[in-house]
Amino acid sequence: MPMGTVPKLILVTGALGQIGTELVEALQDKYGKESVIPTDVREANGCTQLDVMDAEGIENLVRSKGITDIYHLAALLSATGEKNPDLCWSVNVDGLVNVISAAKKYGCRVFSPSSIAVFGPDCPKHAPQVTGLNPTTVYGKTKVVGEHLAMSSGIDMRGLRYPGLISWKAPAGGGTTDYAVEIFHAALSEGHYNCFVREDTRLPMMYMDDAIRATLELMDTPFDSLGTSRGGYNIAGCSFTAGELVKSIQRHIPEFTCSFEPDVRQNYADSWPDSIEDDVARKEWGWISKFDLDKIVDEMIDNLQ
Ligand code: NAD
Ligand code: SER
Repeated sequence: MPMGTVPKLILVTGALGQIGTELVEALQDKYGKESVIPTDVREANGCTQLDVMDAEGIENLVRSKGITDIYHLAALLSATGEKNPDLCWSVNVDGLVNVISAAKKYGCRVFSPSSIAVFGPDCPKHAPQVTGLNPTTVYGKTKVVGEHLAMSSGIDMRGLRYPGLISWKAPAGGGTTDYAVEIFHAALSEGHYNCFVREDTRLPMMYMDDAIRATLELMDTPFDSLGTSRGGYNIAGCSFTAGELVKSIQRHIPEFTCSFEPDVRQNYADSWPDSIEDDVARKEWGWISKFDLDKIVDEMIDNLQ
């Protein structure tokens, strides 16, 4: 397929996860239900079972269905990845290599997310698009490899460095930023949350609606408009501390309390930047976020209630 043309049949891997749950819906709304094939290693109604470690399985599906675009979401996130580093490498890197290999053979475009986890402690606290990428986590290293593969694969492959994503339709999938999702469920059901990072921990975050829109907008952009950041564009949503998140939730639930008991995930959070510079994404494909902290909290409480 020529680079930048409209997709005809879309394969989504890792479709049952936090992003996949909403991206599949958005792709179906945009291109038609029959144009999207959701897959995951887990079984579920309406979802084809596909393990991204199964190179032959991916290739068979891509060939037999005539797939034109692959949204590759299957991965292990930072906290799960640090507990199972070998599996994290296999799923995130070998799985991606399998997807790229099928895409190359059958001429598909690929979207593969990167993450703020590509940055390490040497990165400025406001992370520029171009800087040294020296992550401390295995997960972060797999994402750096993914960005390099995007540029060297010879296909139309694109990615976004998603911040921590906040959403209500599906649970967060084992990352360091999961506290910013769990806290809403705890606030509404228990009136209390025990947060696993310190109160002053500041991280880049984004509401899922912004992340889905960014994904669709990036994939709609003509290939020739995209420069050397194509493998992983910085996109900023908003940036806040865990303590600021608590205060914003207390606007709706004044009696809500939060304790702070940092565990090993604090180390991963401390190795990431506080905020993101997204000047390149703004310039090359017009990215702009729509949700600040209070708007995210209003939406989350409204939908979860
Ligand atoms: P998630 O953990 O919620 O979902 C991942 C899905 O992949 C799960 O449904 C899981 O069953 C599936 N999966 C795991 N191993 C698989 C395998 N071998 N084969 C097929 N499927 C497999 O993750 P998510 O939050 O939806 O993340 C999707 C992508 O976005 C990942 O690449 C992740 O690194 C990236 N990302 C997410 C965030 C975030 O905050 N959610 C932030 C930055 C980047
Ligand atoms: N939200 C993800 C994580 O915490 C970042 O990629 O792992």
